[in-house]
Amino acid sequence: MNRLNRNSTTTKDRKVMIFIAMSLDGYIAQLDGDISFLSVVEMEGEDYGYSEFLKSVDTVIIGRKTYDHVFEMGFDNPHPDKEVYIISRSEQADNGSTKYFKGSLKGLVDELKAKPGENIYCDGGAEVINALLTENLIDEIIISVIPVMLGAGIPLFKSERPENKLELLKANHYDKGLVQLHYKVY
Ligand SMILES: NC(=O)c1ccc[n+]([C@@H]2O[C@H](COP(=O)([O-])OP(=O)(O)OC[C@H]3O[C@@H](n4cnc5c(N)ncnc54)[C@H](OP(=O)(O)O)[C@@H]3O)[C@@H](O)[C@H]2O)c1
Repeated sequence: MNRLNRNSTTTKDRKVMIFIAMSLDGYIAQLDGDISFLSVVEMEGEDYGYSEFLKSVDTVIIGRKTYDHVFEMGFDNPHPDKEVYIISRSEQADNGSTKYFKGSLKGLVDELKAKPGENIYCDGGAEVINALLTENLIDEIIISVIPVMLGAGIPLFKSERPENKLELLKANHYDKGLVQLHYKVY
């Protein structure tokens, strides 16, 4: 069923979306968390669809390590206009408008999808993405392949996950050599 009917208002199904950048050899960061390799595609006035993508989401799921990285860069909340869940296995005090979430990821996604709303963005990192993939909780993946091979780092995809069939929805390439692939996950 693609649409839910609640009180005669039609509500669209919410999708869990990934929008992430990786090196051609599959890394999202250096081993120490450094993501400066992304600068090779920086270009005035070009955000590779990110701001348009953000308009389609109202909720963000983010791994504790990625959140810490963003916090160290000086942002309390990387998405102040959205509902943000920081995923952690330990009990932590909420931080202003962001909430720590310690329970089951499936429980969280099921609860979010049961409410009306826009799409749900998993803002990384790899550990949380792999946990979601393992439980088949991701609906679409947008990957920007950065034209660099890091040789080592934090791999986007870990081994020993179940197989996922994909459908390519869109592929774009840009002047700086970034290739963006948009897949639906079955
Ligand atoms: N290239 C890009 O576009 C991009 C995007 C996002 C992030 N990054 C980079 O990725 C790096 C971080 O990625 P990462 O894979 O190391 O870490 P991560 O996924 O951001 O965070 C891992 C942490 O999330 C919690 N966690 C993960 N799975 C869980 C589960 N199933 N249940 C409960 N809690 C869970 C744990 O927190 P606790 O330890 O607190 O229990 C774990 O240590 C950073 O350097 C960041 O900058 C890059």
